[in-house]
Amino acid sequence: MADQLSIDVIKDFQQKLSSLLGVSGHEEEVRNFIIGEIEKNSLADKSWIDPLGNVLAIKEGTIGEDRILLDAHIDEIGFMVSHITEKGFLRFVPIGTWDIRILLGQSVILKSADGKIFNGIIGSLPPHITTVKERNKVVTIDNMYIDIGMSSEEEVIENQINIGTTGTLYSPFVEFPNGMVRGKAFDDRTGCNVLLHTLLLLKEQEHSDTVLINFAAQEEAGGQGAITGAYSLKPTMAIAIENTTAADVPGVSKEKIPVYIGKGPAITVADLSIITNPKINARLIKNAEQEDIPWQYKKPKYSRTDAGRIQITRKGVPSTVVSVPCRYIHSPTSLLKLEDIYNTVRLIEAFIRNPSKI
Ligand code: CO
Repeated sequence: MADQLSIDVIKDFQQKLSSLLGVSGHEEEVRNFIIGEIEKNSLADKSWIDPLGNVLAIKEGTIGEDRILLDAHIDEIGFMVSHITEKGFLRFVPIGTWDIRILLGQSVILKSADGKIFNGIIGSLPPHITTVKERNKVVTIDNMYIDIGMSSEEEVIENQINIGTTGTLYSPFVEFPNGMVRGKAFDDRTGCNVLLHTLLLLKEQEHSDTVLINFAAQEEAGGQGAITGAYSLKPTMAIAIENTTAADVPGVSKEKIPVYIGKGPAITVADLSIITNPKINARLIKNAEQEDIPWQYKKPKYSRTDAGRIQITRKGVPSTVVSVPCRYIHSPTSLLKLEDIYNTVRLIEAFIRNPSKI
């Protein structure tokens, strides 16, 4: 199956998906792209958008005894305008978890109600007018503002930017050596990329279990999309596909590194929202080994995932998480290796096909 996969196509999808703007609760661009791809390429037997804004899809199995849910979230972390000053500056609140220290001086993109993109800068006082003591103090988000080059509250509102407008940090997609790429929103457009590629592989084959897909809204706002999607799809087991912290960088001791870039998909044993299901993990590992797919454990216990929501749907759903390792998530720029996405798609496809018959 792996010979149908192309790193170039994976890269192309990664660029397209990550360039879309979709802060939690405002994911229309991502949703439209994904449902477009599913319909254009007939990737599912059934696909639809649910009332909360998830893209759901079903690919029937030949026996259909098990119903395997694959979930990846379509939203990204960002900001929401909370106040417009008389002079046209924007105060804002975070949507999702940011490291506040890295925000000052960053470029921002905002989307107006009529869909136009505006550029902004997260402003701070210049070093020329601050004292050394002031510069050494951590600036809180309440003291930051976004400058979009407008000069009055009226001008901002006329341009359809208002309380509730969302945006995120600007970061172009760039290729690095060794098949690495950087860009915005890799958490979790990478998971979306994995799901679209898994569906492309499944298109050419019959599989006994039914495959259920949730491109889930609002993970970064609390996992609301995962809850409603899993309720509709009635899975018997689930895997959340994520993009997770590779802290394999200077200054981090080995025991504190959750996952490594280049070592393949990471299987979670526990995060802050779930103790994952050992039987699903065993099926992943057995099939990975049978097909020579590199894999690694994600060490406990870091971050929360949609799997924590899915597992408590209806009467309970055995669940786990498989992640593509990525450096600098929840910062302006993420960095990952395309080969890790490639091997994650291989692992998920092998899990569904289940040649190890576990
Ligand atoms: Co995520």
